[in-house]
Amino acid sequence: MTITALAPAKINLHLEVLGLRPDGYHELAMVMQSLDLVDSLSFSPSADGQITLVCDRPELPTGADNLIVKAALMLRARSGLPELGAHIALTKRIPIGAGLAGGSSDGAATLVGLNALWGCGFGMEELHAMASALGSDMPFCLEGGSRLCFGRGERIEAGPWSSPPDLGVLLVKHPESSVATPWAFGRCRELRSDFYLSSESEFEQRRQALRQGPLLAALAGERPLPPLRNDLQAVVEPELESVRQGLALLRRAPNPLAVAMSGSGPSLFALFADRASTEAAQAALAAEFAAAGLESWCCHCTESGASLVEPTSAP
Ligand code: C5P
Repeated sequence: MTITALAPAKINLHLEVLGLRPDGYHELAMVMQSLDLVDSLSFSPSADGQITLVCDRPELPTGADNLIVKAALMLRARSGLPELGAHIALTKRIPIGAGLAGGSSDGAATLVGLNALWGCGFGMEELHAMASALGSDMPFCLEGGSRLCFGRGERIEAGPWSSPPDLGVLLVKHPESSVATPWAFGRCRELRSDFYLSSESEFEQRRQALRQGPLLAALAGERPLPPLRNDLQAVVEPELESVRQGLALLRRAPNPLAVAMSGSGPSLFALFADRASTEAAQAALAAEFAAAGLESWCCHCTESGASLVEPTSAP
């Protein structure tokens, strides 16, 4: 038996660093959005109790530090069945080290896929608890769609919308450029900690401002998009030429609704009213992307998080 799961990328439509937490992480207020740019994972049982991972991208480490392996080991430990094993094959489409939560989404898809393969029977609440212990973005990746994310990123709230915004997303990234998330947050602390808020009541004020602010109203279709905020962009942009260049190019695209960096970068995106304008912008900028060595992807917002692919029955 083989089970297949999909792991969608995400972008941050808002990333606000509120302050430092007693556990050393940053307190965040974010809006996350899943994209139809997905990795695919297949899971099959192994008779020898080993957990093995292979990937079509040789540069991706497949050892014990990979979130897929960590998620598999955690699920097996919580199931209390140490004899369980699996062969996992990852087909990577989400750029690596990009601020698109590719690793977290692969980890979330592993929880979903192996829960089914091994018949563990864990419910969504138990999977969320495991996801949260494995990585701050992972609970969102499990759920997907358009969500407000608070705390370390693991406290998820629904927004005032019934379906994800009908927006096209043009993503760009330089293939040789990557950002380590701990570095970006460390640099943020060095440069901006004088402005950090410190009390829970101040944090809650900012959360409330986000809930009632223009971005959520725009995503609910009530007004045009305001400029997007990503506090890590201010930290990463001065350090990376490819980010400055990519942002400048995206801002020159025909009719972008907004332009920003995703997460801790270095991937960047522009939002458009529909798929046709996204593709038109990609075509209009193709020569300049190529000259700058930037890769680009046309995507769309989706409501799916990590999910199983239903097996198709043979005709
Ligand atoms: O939770 P995760 O392992 O994805 O976080 C990676 C690193 O990013 C953390 O070790 C920390 O340095 C930084 N981080 C942070 N505050 C957050 C999330 C991540 O400082 N809310």
